[in-house]
Amino acid sequence: MAFYDRSDCLNPSPHIDAYGNKSGIFIIKNAIPEKLIEKIEAGLNALPKEIEPYTEGLMSWYTNKMAPGVDGTIDLWETISEIIGPEWVIHPANNYLTVRPGDNGMFIHTDSPGKDQCHLLSQTDVWSTCCIIDYGVCVYFGEYEGGAIFYPQINPDGSIKDKNNSGGACFEYKPEKGDIVVHSAFDPYGHGVREVTSGTRYVFSNFSLKAIDNPGTFYNYGTPEYFKQVGNKSSDNLKFWMDPLKENPQFSPDKIKEYQASGLEGEDLAKTFFNDMK
Ligand SMILES: [Fe+2]
Repeated sequence: MAFYDRSDCLNPSPHIDAYGNKSGIFIIKNAIPEKLIEKIEAGLNALPKEIEPYTEGLMSWYTNKMAPGVDGTIDLWETISEIIGPEWVIHPANNYLTVRPGDNGMFIHTDSPGKDQCHLLSQTDVWSTCCIIDYGVCVYFGEYEGGAIFYPQINPDGSIKDKNNSGGACFEYKPEKGDIVVHSAFDPYGHGVREVTSGTRYVFSNFSLKAIDNPGTFYNYGTPEYFKQVGNKSSDNLKFWMDPLKENPQFSPDKIKEYQASGLEGEDLAKTFFNDMK
């Protein structure tokens, strides 16, 4: 059964995307077992307040907001994979995007520029999936106020705004810990995060593609290769899990250094370096 056919999957903004997939915004509440939430939050709360800089990114906004994976992260990843699969999978991920008061929430973005639109990327894509994904998939942790996810092009009732009249109130949702929010990776489901007014908002942010579209950069959850790779889930095994099985030539370590050295970000970076990318 697809995740969106579950009886506990809300679909406040139903939509069929340009690729024919059932899409829009989905919310599954209380999706993560309480014990696992407690374990992950204990790990997150024990981290130093100053986050180690994330050095592989191409957008400075992320540099001090990527908290590392903690005990239980692989169990969380498996729990999400069970819910989203088997038709869809998520790629390995081992950090928590961290937003605090004063960060001004998060800028508005879509999760993918569109399929076959790698010339428009503005962030690293080591799994070669950004232009294959169908959905963004997020799970929330932490005690915080503010921090709602908002969709400027979607009306409060879930309908899509008229392009010529896209101002005014929009759909927004304040996630509670353990919620899974799945949304379309594409326009018009661009989204941002409202200012966090107190506390810390952690999100385990993933991107989902069809299992059959996996470009061979990771083993799909549930396959014998996956179970062999993660084994007893030791930190050594998880390092292999986080290592793509093949390199994305657009984002080799040398290329990333070259992009970073240019000082360009976003559209300017894409226009300068990615014009020939498919
Ligand atoms: Fe996003």
